[in-house]
Amino acid sequence: MTSALTTAEIREKYLSFFEGKGHLRLPSHSLIAPDPTTLFTVAGMQPFKPQFLGAAARFPGHEGERKRVTTAQKCLRVNDIENVGRTLRHCSLLEMLGNFSFGDYFKRDAILFAWEFLTGAEWLALDPAKLHVTIYKDDQEAFDVWTRECGLPEERILRFDADENFWPADAPAKGPNGPCGPCSEIFYDRGPDFGSDTWADYQETRESARFLEIWNLVFPQYDRQDGGVLADLPYKNIDTGMGLERIASVLQNVPDFYSNDVFLPLVTRVAELSGKPYEGVTSLSHRVIAEHVRSVSMTVADGVTLSNTGRGYVIRKILRRASRHAYLLGLREPVLHTLVGLVVERMGGAYPELRERQAEVEAAIRAEETRFLTTLESGTTRLEAILAKIEKGEMLSGTEAFTLYDTYGFPLDLTREIAEEYGVGVDEAGFDRALEEQQERARAGSKYGKSELFGDVQEALDEVARTHGATDFVGYEDLVTEGRVLAVVERGETLTRLPAGSAAQVVLDRTPFYAEGGGEVGDRGWLEWQGGRGFVRDTRKSPQGLFLHDLTVEEGELTVGASVRGVVDLPERLSTQRHHTATHLLHAALRAVLGSGVRQAGSLVSPDRLRFDFSHGATLTPEQVREVERLVNRWVQADFPVTYAYMSLDEARATGAMALFGEKYGDTVRVVSVEGGVPFQDHVVTSRELCGGAHVKRTGEIGSFVIVSEEGLAAGVRRVEALAGEAATAYVREQLTTLSDLALTLNTNPAGLAERLAGLQGQLRDLNAQVTTLRRQLTQAQMGGGAAQDVRELGGFRVASLRLTGVEASELRGAADDLLDRSGADLAVVASDRGLVVKASRDAVSRGAHAGQLVGKLAL
Ligand code: ALA
Repeated sequence: MTSALTTAEIREKYLSFFEGKGHLRLPSHSLIAPDPTTLFTVAGMQPFKPQFLGAAARFPGHEGERKRVTTAQKCLRVNDIENVGRTLRHCSLLEMLGNFSFGDYFKRDAILFAWEFLTGAEWLALDPAKLHVTIYKDDQEAFDVWTRECGLPEERILRFDADENFWPADAPAKGPNGPCGPCSEIFYDRGPDFGSDTWADYQETRESARFLEIWNLVFPQYDRQDGGVLADLPYKNIDTGMGLERIASVLQNVPDFYSNDVFLPLVTRVAELSGKPYEGVTSLSHRVIAEHVRSVSMTVADGVTLSNTGRGYVIRKILRRASRHAYLLGLREPVLHTLVGLVVERMGGAYPELRERQAEVEAAIRAEETRFLTTLESGTTRLEAILAKIEKGEMLSGTEAFTLYDTYGFPLDLTREIAEEYGVGVDEAGFDRALEEQQERARAGSKYGKSELFGDVQEALDEVARTHGATDFVGYEDLVTEGRVLAVVERGETLTRLPAGSAAQVVLDRTPFYAEGGGEVGDRGWLEWQGGRGFVRDTRKSPQGLFLHDLTVEEGELTVGASVRGVVDLPERLSTQRHHTATHLLHAALRAVLGSGVRQAGSLVSPDRLRFDFSHGATLTPEQVREVERLVNRWVQADFPVTYAYMSLDEARATGAMALFGEKYGDTVRVVSVEGGVPFQDHVVTSRELCGGAHVKRTGEIGSFVIVSEEGLAAGVRRVEALAGEAATAYVREQLTTLSDLALTLNTNPAGLAERLAGLQGQLRDLNAQVTTLRRQLTQAQMGGGAAQDVRELGGFRVASLRLTGVEASELRGAADDLLDRSGADLAVVASDRGLVVKASRDAVSRGAHAGQLVGKLAL
């Protein structure tokens, strides 16, 4: 090799190699995980889980199905963050080069592609003699391809169980649920300079500085389900992941990835800033800073804000760890943000979002650094003073660690790390207890017992509401309108952007979407913006009056501040409105027919149906149900306008508007009125209610109304379910079809059904009577004929027995009485193929005969 490949060149070679093998090159997904199994994206396959599970392999902007895909995916793995910097192999942010097949090629091709890319002269041209692999214990197919087709000697192949050669590791036993399968890992032998161990040793040690894992080929063919069940996926897939940092350090022949072309400039800059040279293994702080600034920059560029919960908290923790190491190097001013430019220089080509948001990232890091430096100074001084007084091998008390955390904002992991440097442990159980007690106190002090996560979102929403005011709802009149994104909230934190495939609550300044309330369900529909679009599954309202749209981004990326067009699903909303106005009419009709004791006790208004609960002591008679239904339909046919007006609560009461009992209303209320009444008995019934819901403009829009059920819910509470508009006509059509099908089966028409059924019932009665008579006759005939009758002695009793055929169990008792009489025996036993009955004479019973016991004996 003339000169070593740069990281960017390796990335490009990989992607173009697989493009040459028919793969579609797709951009990296955001670090915000595309599914809820993890907070951050942790593997190249994660965005493709739907395709592994059977979804069509279609990707926005690309024609047709694409069953081969390749990506360089940014991943963040934070579970062993304490090890980052300590070892030379761990990093939190990693770039994973991957090729994926969704039911297209499988194991053999995946291995052959990998082999060609690693050893091919125009690709990485690695020496085949340096390559070693592991396979899943009984994966003969992989073994054969490696040995026979790639020519790998048997001794360079080790076999492991599911804890090593399954991905995710140990998935069958421990989960997570989802696509998984056996894997084959490829290792590169860096030579004896890195360690004196041999490949055979690796079977035991499973750790080596010499043999470096560079690529994992996974063969996902199972869908792991609850209880460790491995169901077959609809087809077999391929998922591979090559760690770009590692392969770069191999190709650049540097001792570890901190010396590769991405990290060296960062580590060198840390040395310049601090005046402390990078001295390899011992320079922990340089590494921590370089690695962590890269992770934080990439994550903040993807929209994570530093906070106290969720992702924001993880990133804050990582940044604070870097900050502390800068402090350890003697740096007392914020400097980490000055390294962002170097990250952008090295990574911005592959991840343009980093370049676009450099200023935003720098500002966020700077603000956090500044804040944390203050904490660090006071916390470190205090902690070191305490540690100096504790003997090596002793413990720092949990209360002390907690005070540092609570009063000084000094994180437990830092306390643990500093204490470790003094050879002192931390009583973490004590810390947990103190934390729990404090949370208990906080819960007791707060009326709502709000969770920490929820608390934070509420704070964020408070802030949004303070700055922008409540959301302006325009959806009584407009079902399409322009608005601006004020905030994106996801699993307890606010984000600055939301990538395609992710879901979150989106707050808009102005919206046509009705938020769930007053029994009416929230609207669904779409948000559209330049370059993107997402589906709104539901809409709710926060206590601050902000509308939260439950959005899944389908295409493009949504950013805070973006202008969006909100488009409510029109047919659904119109149907909901029909059901809502119909609910008001139903309410008024129930009061007219059943009396003014009827009070609304709850309701549900959806596009599919309405449900209305109300206080009333008795079951409604069919006539009452019909009367109520007829009244509502009269309103519908009259096609009266439906209007709304805002007024004070007192004014509303004066107009006779119905208010819900026990409901709290603000100073100004909205009154919905149907402008016209319908006659019932000697008066005219009207509808006017306090209501914030969405309604039709004229009652005629309701189309038709039908009550489908009436039932009791609790003592004194009834429930009516009804349908309006198309839902009503569809229901009636279905009933009519059932009726004519039934009539057809019975050879008549619907009008003749009742008569036909009455006739059939009469016939059935006659037939039953005949059957009973025939049975009796059959028994009599057999008894009379003395069929197989037999009398013998049993335990001092004379036992008569008789076997009958074709006699129902219900007839046996009478037959046994008869037999007892006729035979003059003490006991009579009558059996048929349907059962067995024993009768004892009065006299026999008084002498101790027990029919039940005898049945037991005979049955034996
Ligand atoms: N999904 C596999 C891994 O992350 C390739 O190791």
